[in-house]
Amino acid sequence: MIETIKKHIAEVQAFSSTKKEEIENFRIKYLGKKGLLNDFFAEFKNVANDQKKEFGQVINSLKKSAEDKVNELKESLESKEETKGIYGDLSRPGEIIPLGSRHPISIVKNKIIDIFLRIGFNVSEGPEIEDDWHNFTALNLPEYHPARDMQDTFFIQTNPDVLLRTHTSSVQVRYMENNKPPIRTISPGRVYRNEAISARSHCFFHQVEGLYVDKGVSFADLKQTLQYFTTEMFGKSKIRLRPSYFPFTEPSAEVDVYWGLETEADYRITKGTGWLEIGGCGMVDPNVLKNCGIDPEEYSGFAFGVGVDRIAMLLHQIPDIRMFSENDVRFLEQFKSVL
Ligand code: PHE
Repeated sequence: MIETIKKHIAEVQAFSSTKKEEIENFRIKYLGKKGLLNDFFAEFKNVANDQKKEFGQVINSLKKSAEDKVNELKESLESKEETKGIYGDLSRPGEIIPLGSRHPISIVKNKIIDIFLRIGFNVSEGPEIEDDWHNFTALNLPEYHPARDMQDTFFIQTNPDVLLRTHTSSVQVRYMENNKPPIRTISPGRVYRNEAISARSHCFFHQVEGLYVDKGVSFADLKQTLQYFTTEMFGKSKIRLRPSYFPFTEPSAEVDVYWGLETEADYRITKGTGWLEIGGCGMVDPNVLKNCGIDPEEYSGFAFGVGVDRIAMLLHQIPDIRMFSENDVRFLEQFKSVL
């Protein structure tokens, strides 16, 4: 019997738990009304007299061990619960908060905006759902003008006066209608064209268009502004203006930047020419100024437009425009370090 009790003492001393329920079960097992200790005490009268002393000692020792153990475990449980409070266990290591990243389109768009803010341009925005006037007619494209075919347009079927803007030139119209020269504004935003989707073109993409209207604005101002832009944006200052046609500018030009032919990638990007087209530009057609309530006899202006997606693809070596809208985090996560 004494041996059994001694085993229990060892068991009690070895016991450990952080669970309230387990500790309570342990208490009941030894110290409860029908617990082992009471059983052992009841045995006392049957124990031979010469063993009574030792028996009493081990029983008391078991009782004390069990009591001490229960108190000790309860105390440590309580002190743990205290530190938990409403914030949980404050001593636990913090949880890692995943770092987000900007979308590459936003990164490039913000960079372009920043470059033009530095030379006195402001930022203007307008609706993506436009009317015919702001997207076409005011921009010198009357209803049956063949140049409307240049941009396949998403119209709302039941109302051809409602469409998704095909360029942010519509914002420039709105800006001219509501502001007097001098005007220096850039209009970043998403635009839509009914084009087949491929690695190089999408039915929606992003533009930043610029507009400068004041007395005596010349083509030289346009060229200098574009050169400033390419230098700041790409670190390349050599540009070329190729004659072109836009209904809303006259004269009009395509803007090419000399990218160079130093690496294999340069050859690939520029198709072996060294030159890369980045957008369109021109002097605002006097008709457009008139349509927007600005006297073309008094004022002149230039406008330009660049594609944000193309520039982002170029700067970050993104092979497929569709990646911008797939929302694959493995792609987006790569821009964590860029602001
Ligand atoms: N709006 C033209 C386009 O979307 C770009 C452009 C803007 C061209 C301003 C000339 C001047 O293609």
